[in-house]
Amino acid sequence: MDPERLYAPAKYILAGQGKRFRPHLVLSASSLFDGDRHVALKAAAAVEVFHIFTLVHDDIMDHADTRRGRDTIHLKWDEPTAILTGDYLLGRTVDLLLAFPDNRLRAAVTLLSETVRKLCEGQVRDMAFEDRNDVTLEEYLVMIDQKTSALLECSLMLGGMTGSVSEADLGALQQVGHHLGRAFQIQDDLLDLVADSEKWGKPVGGDLMAAKKTWLLLNALATSSDDAEWFAAMVDRGGALPEEIVEARRRMDDLGIIESAREAVIFHSSEALKLIQALPEGLGQGSLVALTRKMQKRLH
Ligand code: IPE
Ligand code: IPE
Ligand code: MG
Ligand code: MG
Ligand code: MG
Repeated sequence: MDPERLYAPAKYILAGQGKRFRPHLVLSASSLFDGDRHVALKAAAAVEVFHIFTLVHDDIMDHADTRRGRDTIHLKWDEPTAILTGDYLLGRTVDLLLAFPDNRLRAAVTLLSETVRKLCEGQVRDMAFEDRNDVTLEEYLVMIDQKTSALLECSLMLGGMTGSVSEADLGALQQVGHHLGRAFQIQDDLLDLVADSEKWGKPVGGDLMAAKKTWLLLNALATSSDDAEWFAAMVDRGGALPEEIVEARRRMDDLGIIESAREAVIFHSSEALKLIQALPEGLGQGSLVALTRKMQKRLH
C-alpha cells in the first residue's frame, strides 16, 4: 500500500511474534458473559493494535534496539517513521472499537481514552524515575498500575462489554486486571534480569543498564547492605555496564530479591485467580484461569 514508508513498518510490527496476552483476555472475558463473537474479535484486535502502538512509542522513549526479537522501527527506519506508525495504529484502534453496538460504544471509547490517559501518566512517571534516586516502592506501584495494569483492565472490561456484564462484574474484571497487571509487570522486571536472551527477544539486563527503577532495583536499594551500596553506585554512574550484569544478578540472588519477586508474582496471580473464581461460571472462566497460570510461568 502507498505510502510504503507508513505501511511497511506497520505491517512489520504487526507481524512480530508477541504473546497476544491482551486479546486472549478480551476473548475469555467475552465468553464469560456470552458476548457477541464478531464484536469480541474486533475488540481483541483493537487492544493488540493499541498495545503495539504503545510498544513502538515506548521503544523510542527507552532507546530500545530490539522488540520481539527484531530491530525496533526507529532503528530499522527512523524516529519520525516510528512516531507516525504509532499514531496510525492508535487511529486504527478507535476504528476497530466502532464494532461495538450503539448502546455500548460510548462506554467502550471512554474506557479506551481513560486507558490512554493512565498509560501516558504511567510512562511519564517511569521516565521521570530514571533521573531520581529516591523513588519509593509505593510510587513504583502507582506507575505500573498505570503503564501496565490499565490496559489489562481495559481488555477484560471490553471483553465483558461485548456481552451481558453487570456493573458489579465490570468492577470485578477491573480488579482481576489490576492484579494481573501487577504480576505481569513485576514478572517483566524479573525476566529482564533472569530470562534467556534468545527467548526474551531483547538484551538481558537492559533495565539495569538504563538504571530503570524496577521492582528488583528498588527492593535492592531499600536493603541496608553492601549490595545496596553497590547498586546505588551503579545508579549514580547512570546504569550497569554489560559486563556487570552477571554480578548484579548474583547480588540480587544473594539478597533474596529474585525469590521475593517470584513470590510477589505468585501473590498477585493468586489474588487474580480468587477473583476469577468468584465471577459467574462460564466458558471463559477456565481460559482466564489458564491464562493467569500461563502468565505466571512465562519465560518471555
Ligand atoms: C510488554 O508486553 C510490555 C509490558 C507491559 C511489560 P508483553 O510482554 O505482553 O509483550 P508482547 O506483546 O508479548 O511482545
Ligand atoms: C512497558 O514498559 C509499558 C508500556 C506501556 C509499553 P517497559 O518499558 O518495561 O516495557 P518493555 O520492557 O520495553 O517491553
Ligand atoms: Mg518503558
Ligand atoms: Mg521499554
Ligand atoms: Mg520491561
